[in-house]
Amino acid sequence: MRRPIVAGNWKMHGSRAFVSELLAGIKEGVTACEGVEVIVCPPFVYLDQAASLLEGARVALGAQNLCQVSGQGAYTGEISCDMLRDMGAGHVIVGHSERRNIYGESDALVAEKAIVAAAAGLTPILCVGELLEERESGQTEQVVGRQLDALLQREEGAAALEKSVIAYEPVWAIGTGRTATPEQAQEVHAYIRQRLAQISQNLADGARILYGGSVKPGNAAELFGMADIDGGLIGGASLKAGDFLAICRAAAS
Ligand code: 13P
Repeated sequence: MRRPIVAGNWKMHGSRAFVSELLAGIKEGVTACEGVEVIVCPPFVYLDQAASLLEGARVALGAQNLCQVSGQGAYTGEISCDMLRDMGAGHVIVGHSERRNIYGESDALVAEKAIVAAAAGLTPILCVGELLEERESGQTEQVVGRQLDALLQREEGAAALEKSVIAYEPVWAIGTGRTATPEQAQEVHAYIRQRLAQISQNLADGARILYGGSVKPGNAAELFGMADIDGGLIGGASLKAGDFLAICRAAAS
């Protein structure tokens, strides 16, 4: 039995006041989400504030990105895995489609980040997913397979994947209100699990694969009810405590 996860990716949203208010709301309602691993991923600059506010709460903290170089050094504007650990983060999103498509992160760079994060004791939330034109031209499995292979081709790849959570986020469903149908999502999740089974059946059976892309309180239960969907990575709806908690409850039931 895989424990479901609901993770909120706040992206570039928030202020000190907003963080206080949102986390107060989430803390209050999270007790009703028994059995679900709840994670919030605020922008870097609010991690410290969030860690203080979440002390003692059953909500874990994650970051949205990290530098592929660990330790310290001349990397202007970058944040290392050690710094994230120091701030109290236990998870880090790696290879979100916005990082891949706006900032040009390659499959190889994403793989490196996942390896560095896992080696530092962080849980990578590795995002994969196809663009609309890739889906429409029947390349979904090829794209997702290629994104996973970038990690698996590395010597440390399987070990990093064992410590990771995978998030399938079809790019055409992100922030568009156009959710993948539960069947469409399930199909890709099953494909990912089958791909992991080629490495090891244990890895495939234990891996938690989240769906992301316009998950809302109204569609969460149906998505999470599918055999290979183990929770969600939530964007817009994670910015409202009520909506986020409703999605967490959907994962609990
Ligand atoms: P939305 O839930 O806003 O579509 O965003 C999904 C996402 O990108 C989470 O990482």
